[in-house]
Amino acid sequence: MTDAELDAALDRAAHWLRTAERVCVLTGAGVSAESGVPTFRASDGLWEGHRIEDVASPDGWDRNPLLVWQFYNARRANVATVKPNAGHFALVAMEDRWSDRFTLVTQNVDGLHLEAGSRRVLEIHGSLRQTRCLTCGSVTNRGSEPLGDAPECPQCRGRLRPHIVWFGEGLPDDVWSAAMVAAHECDVLLVIGTSAVVHPAASLIPISKRHKAVPAKVIEVNLTPTEASAYADVGLYGPSGEMLPKLLQRLG
Ligand code: APR
Repeated sequence: MTDAELDAALDRAAHWLRTAERVCVLTGAGVSAESGVPTFRASDGLWEGHRIEDVASPDGWDRNPLLVWQFYNARRANVATVKPNAGHFALVAMEDRWSDRFTLVTQNVDGLHLEAGSRRVLEIHGSLRQTRCLTCGSVTNRGSEPLGDAPECPQCRGRLRPHIVWFGEGLPDDVWSAAMVAAHECDVLLVIGTSAVVHPAASLIPISKRHKAVPAKVIEVNLTPTEASAYADVGLYGPSGEMLPKLLQRLG
């Protein structure tokens, strides 16, 4: 994008946001890239020689739960060392502006939106911080505390699993319903740092346009065009840690 193109795109995006009653945001791995969290599709799809699908799936868990916990403990340790970036903080400032008319839906499990200070966050793929008991079902926030390779529920001694949506699993009904409502009701949907190839998350983008008198304006923020671009009314193509503060500044 040339400077003039970006300037015009920022103006259009800021205009739609200023007049929006409700705002919804969908983020993906790209929003955390500048914090040092690797994105999914840029990596080789392997962890220590294992396919990610083999350590992040119900089959993988049935085969080798210890290996699954080793994988998640490594990811937990990694995110404990990273910090939110300017993109996360710009979204906190936007939430301050719209308050409970602003919903942030994230596919990320790194917890960086919450750490930055965002409040209305729907973590539709779960969270690396949380565990779920296979016996009593309780979900607990364990932060970045070390959990070991076979953690037990502090309440009932049942086996714990990561509270993450694995490949082949459905999204939690309550969180997904809230995300669909937010996408359907918004006037502007910001789609940030996602390749928009994983469903149902990516279907929030067409949902924001469908079955309403005035379809939402979709603003895409990414390094490059993606599957979401066909729905985008404007694209801000550059790092989200730079684009989002610029957009915030234009809001005045
Ligand atoms: N700023 C903005 N966008 C960026 C940046 C950046 N600094 N760096 C990378 N990106 C973009 C890439 O261009 C890409 O489009 O972020 C996107 C990352 O895409 P993916 O790696 O596919 O991540 P995501 O879309 O979040 O994946 C969705 O797939 O494996 C599953 O459950 C996992 O939640 C994940 C889901």
